Amino acid sequence: MANKLEIRDLWAEIDGSPILKGVDLVVPQGEVHALMGPNGAGKSTLGRVIAGDPSYQVTEGEVLLDGENILQLKPDERARKGLFLAFQYPLEVPGVTIANFLRLALQQRFGREVPLSEFYNKLQKAIEVLEWDESYVTRYLNEGFSGGEKKRNEVLQLMVLEPKYAILDETDSGLDIDALKVVSKGVNAMRGPEFAALVITHYQRLLNYIVPDVVHVMVDGRVVKTGGKDLALELEERGYDWLKAEVGA
Ligand SMILES: Nc1ncnc2c1ncn2[C@@H]1O[C@H](COP(=O)(O)OP(=O)(O)O)[C@@H](O)[C@H]1O
Ligand SMILES: [Mg+2]
Repeated sequence: MANKLEIRDLWAEIDGSPILKGVDLVVPQGEVHALMGPNGAGKSTLGRVIAGDPSYQVTEGEVLLDGENILQLKPDERARKGLFLAFQYPLEVPGVTIANFLRLALQQRFGREVPLSEFYNKLQKAIEVLEWDESYVTRYLNEGFSGGEKKRNEVLQLMVLEPKYAILDETDSGLDIDALKVVSKGVNAMRGPEFAALVITHYQRLLNYIVPDVVHVMVDGRVVKTGGKDLALELEERGYDWLKAEVGA
């Protein structure tokens, strides 16, 4: 069976106005791909549609996870299949510790009770890789957290949940170098034959730390160019206008 995340001719709209206009994209297991493109191209929308955000109406196309079309599945069912969308939910849950939240998320991910010992093993491993202080996870979820700390949380979540396919939507608003390093450390630690990621970013900066196997560029609701990691550097240097002109957008 084909182990990959495959988007085929995906069209999606919100309130009748089309945003995705025939996206084709393949991310095979074991690879990390970057999705770049100018603001408003539809990158975040693509991430949300893959994850199952009900605000968008899919009017055509398929999202195949290991060959299975997941478009009819609810977001939590998609998560159970190993899909993970990060950096979209800066949620604050007063009174819930990071550890408790993670255990709940893990149980949802695997659809079964996860024994404390198993959970703590995973948590311990993640904290070690990230070189964090253990006391950190007994804090309350995002309550009074800085942007960088929220980012850490999301990375911890990624590592504990061990998704097969992760979509990381890096918001374009000023992530400092420390946060970039945290994100990349987590993602790079996850790299392996059974992990694939689509890293969405407007700027090339993040890709200095997470070196992608493949770079896709989205313009006006479609993937218009795919290349190697050098494509990101070229875009950094030349901007997006030449590409827009090339595709007549
Ligand atoms: N919830 C929404 N309501 C209305 N318009 C939206 C919504 N989400 C996205 N859009 C529009 O879709 C286009 C693509 O947005 P987005 O996916 O956020 O692009 P990108 O992430 O590439 O910057 C933009 O024109 C944006 O205004
Ligand atoms: Mg975006």
